[in-house]
This record gives sequence, structure tokens and C-alpha cells, in this order.
Amino acid sequence: MKILVTGGLGFIGSHTVVELQQEGYEVVIIDNLSNSSIEVLDGITAITKIKPHFEQIDLKDKNNVRQFFSNHSDIAGVVHFAASKAVGESVNEPLMYYENNIGTLVYVLQEISKLNFQNFIFSSSCTVYGQADELPITENAPVKPAESPYGNTKQIGEEIIKDTCKVNSDLNSIALRYFNPIGAHPSVKIGELPIGVPQNLVPYITQTGIGMRDQLSVFGGDYPTSDGTAIRDYIHVVDLARAHVVALQRLIDKKNDSNYEVFNLGTGKGSSVLEVIESFNRISGQNLKYSIVDKREGDITAAYAETSKANNILGWKTELTLDDAMDSAWKWEQKIRNS
Ligand code: UD1
Repeated sequence: MKILVTGGLGFIGSHTVVELQQEGYEVVIIDNLSNSSIEVLDGITAITKIKPHFEQIDLKDKNNVRQFFSNHSDIAGVVHFAASKAVGESVNEPLMYYENNIGTLVYVLQEISKLNFQNFIFSSSCTVYGQADELPITENAPVKPAESPYGNTKQIGEEIIKDTCKVNSDLNSIALRYFNPIGAHPSVKIGELPIGVPQNLVPYITQTGIGMRDQLSVFGGDYPTSDGTAIRDYIHVVDLARAHVVALQRLIDKKNDSNYEVFNLGTGKGSSVLEVIESFNRISGQNLKYSIVDKREGDITAAYAETSKANNILGWKTELTLDDAMDSAWKWEQKIRNS
């Protein structure tokens, strides 16, 4: 069964490709390499011993999208990761984000509507909840006004899919709202490859540990939390990737209750920034240098998932811990800097 993974050489995309291949799917990857490297293809192949079909295509070009789907009309499902994801950059380049994340989504949905099998998984984010009024956050929590164009593209993306599902009953879609994906594949053959200075916590920690950065700035020490630092739900990227496979299988098996469903993907456990640092220290044997500085604009106090919908309906739950994720992230950091 042929599955298209857009953005399949990115961080979450590449781990999902591995899980799909290991479950026996034939994977076709599209990626424009704007924020990924062709070497990831070798990493995937080294893990699964199967080289996925790869096409370097920019989905912003509608003709490319049309051509691709007319060549691959036997696709049984699409997992759509291809998108830009830097919050700060999106504030400075809103049109680029709307074009990259919304324009391409529209083109892909237009072409999917011509296929025999219209199974579509969308990469969304817990960012749609903003600072939720209640924790843990259920899928019924209201969507709050987005803090950034990036966050807005996830909200608008969900709305576009929902509206399309209303008029096209052949389209079956699941939007997956990720909490904070971290870690790397345990084989240490694929992992996160941030370009420039990392904006996310764990890559910044591992780069500090390896000596590329002097110290970590902890954004905010007076949040109303047990240790004053902000709380997030850090999920191992391999657990996250596995959820895509079960969600896709649900669509293929037509087990979905409606043709547009939403699931939170998280561990259900919140960790503070200081707890994440402690995990790194345990794993690496280091004592990470950090200092507490002002809050980062747009950051929320706490977010962690209520996971029972995904647990009960998808039959999926996380299996790996924060320390597992940190261990793989740290091994990956050491590997890419020493090779
Ligand atoms: C960020 C994005 C979010 C996106 C997610 C993808 C922002 C505001 N939000 O989430 O929209 O979906 O990444 O993974 O960018 N921290 C530090 N020092 C650092 C970096 C981070 O203290 O150098 C803290 C942050 O304040 C936060 C926590 O670590 O409390 C996690 O930060 P990060 O990894 O950037 O993720 P989010 O901000 O939760």
C-alpha cells in the first residue's frame, strides 16, 4: 500500500517514514529540502533496509503537485508534514508562512480529491489551544487566538480540512495536535537537525552540552509553577511517529467515527524547564550551565495533554520516557558533531 509523506525528510516526517516502512507500507517521500538534508534518506534506509522513493518537489508550485499526483494516482494515504515551523520567523515573514503552510495544503487537498483513496493525516499542534483554561488539555478545549502566523497556519489548516470534509464525504482526515516532540531514533541514524541557533529547548540543551553554546537561557523563573519555570509535555518523536501509523490505519480501515477527527498527541505528563535540565544532567553526567532570564514573548505557563481520546480510540499510548528521549537526543548530538 503506497503512502505519501510530504516533508518526509524532516524531523517528525523521517521518524514516521521509518515506522510506516516497518509496518510494511510502501513510502513515497516529497521534500523540497528547505529545512532538511538529503542525507536523511540514507539514515532512513540504514534503519529499515528499504530506500523509500524520493522526489524533490516544492509543493508551492501547483503544477508540480498536479504532476506528482497524476503520476501516483494509486496513493492510499497522505501524511502531510511539509510546512515551515519557526515561530519567530513567521512573525517577520507572515506571507511566506501563509504561502508555505496554507497554499501548499490547499493544492494537496485539491489533488487528493481526485484519488480513489482520500486518507489524509494533518500535522497540527497544541499551539492551537494557547494557554488553556484547564489542564490537562482535552481536544474539546477552545482554540484560542494564535500568538503568531505560524500558530495561525495550524488553526487555519484545521479549518480548511474541516470545511473540505463537510462537502467531500470521500475525504477522511485526522488532525494530530502534537505537544512538544523531542529525541531521536534509538539507532541514532536520524534525529533533529536544527538550522542555526535552535529555538527549541532540547536542541539548545544538547548544543550547550556539546560546547557549541555557552549556556542555556531559561526563559522565565517566576511562572506560577512548582519551581517557577514553564511546563510542557515532551513526547518522544518515535512515540509520536507511531501514532501517525495507527491514525492512518484507522482511516484505511474506515474505522473513523466521522470524516474529520482531532487527537492530542502527548504523554499526559508536564515537565518544567528545570526538570528537563535535570534529565539532561542525569543522562549526560554533566551539570548544564544555565541562567534564568526574562520570559520569552508569547510563551505560555503550562501545557500538557489529556491523552485518553488517543489512548482509547486510536489504541495508542506513549511508551518512552523523558529520559529515553533525552538519551537519544544526546547520543544524536554527539554523533552529528563528532562525525
Ligand atoms: C514551540 C512553539 C510552538 C511549536 C513548538 C514545536 C513558541 C512560542 N512556540 O513550543 O508553537 O508548536 O515549539 O516544537 O516558539 N525554553 C527555554 N530556553 C530556550 C528554549 C526554550 O527556557 O532556549 C523554554 C520555553 O520558554 C518553554 C520550553 O522551554 O517553556 C519549551 O520551549 P520550546 O522547545 O521552544 O517549545 P514551545 O515554546 O513549547
